[in-house]
Amino acid sequence: MEIQLWREVLSPYELAVQELTVKFEHLMKEYKEQGMYSPIEQVTGRVKSISSILQKAQKKNIPLDRIQEEMYDIAGVRIICQFVEDIEMVVEMIRKRSDMKIVDERDYVSHVKDSGYRSYHLIVAYEVETMSGTQNICVEIQVRTLGMNFWAIIEHSLQYKYQKNMPEHIRKKLLKAAQAIVVLDSQLSAVREEIMDAQNSFQYQTNMIADILNNIQNLYHTANKREIAKIQDEFYRIYEMNDLEKLQRFSRELDIIAEGYRAQALDHEE
Ligand code: GTP
Ligand code: MG
Repeated sequence: MEIQLWREVLSPYELAVQELTVKFEHLMKEYKEQGMYSPIEQVTGRVKSISSILQKAQKKNIPLDRIQEEMYDIAGVRIICQFVEDIEMVVEMIRKRSDMKIVDERDYVSHVKDSGYRSYHLIVAYEVETMSGTQNICVEIQVRTLGMNFWAIIEHSLQYKYQKNMPEHIRKKLLKAAQAIVVLDSQLSAVREEIMDAQNSFQYQTNMIADILNNIQNLYHTANKREIAKIQDEFYRIYEMNDLEKLQRFSRELDIIAEGYRAQALDHEE
């Protein structure tokens, strides 16, 4: 067998994980900028350690010069959602993308594993550009709720502690905890709409306040200082009323004032 240059082998996987993390985080940002609820709550990624690769290759009888073809989870991305319903939305979003192709799919949300494990798994083929050209990389994407993630992390630590010999009473406790998470997820789903509304309007208000302050700051350079101080005082007065409609009206009026100054400034330039 040829000598394995691990750094070179793993480098494109690192690139894939970094790119995908950036892309999914950007989606979150887009939702927030639109003042919308994001189906993605958190994104993490990792490249499997060399020791885990060796261990898995041995367990699954994968020759070391075949790991790129036969080990699908060297690159891993985890997408955490708030609600079970969001998982499907995320999977559909991935299905529509042109920069990754789903090659395998496992629904452990509907088909819970014997351990109690729940998650939606996708293996996607993803292209990265390297010094030596385009490489097609397999990435395992796990989509799960905060609750599913909580359980999986704890169960994984216990699996690690006991290796293959998890005591029966612990296994039972974990199964019970997994069932409790199913109940928790469904109870939270029942208030999903309300939480989504709250998050939408919170994000909307956050964006609007940023717009207002941005407008005031821009006016500072063009408008009369005393007038801006008055506008700012008016903003704080309305802000304290805690009335979204009044704030909206103020924001619209400020837009018109700012527009007027912009037109004036342009006139001067001509
Ligand atoms: P692996 O050899 O673990 O990759 O199993 P597999 O190739 O049959 O794939 P599977 O879809 O079962 O699991 C892929 C990954 O899901 C694992 O590497 C874990 O990260 C996670 N996973 C699967 N089952 C469990 C489980 O029972 N508990 C926890 N904590 N994680 C699990
Ligand atoms: Mg696997």
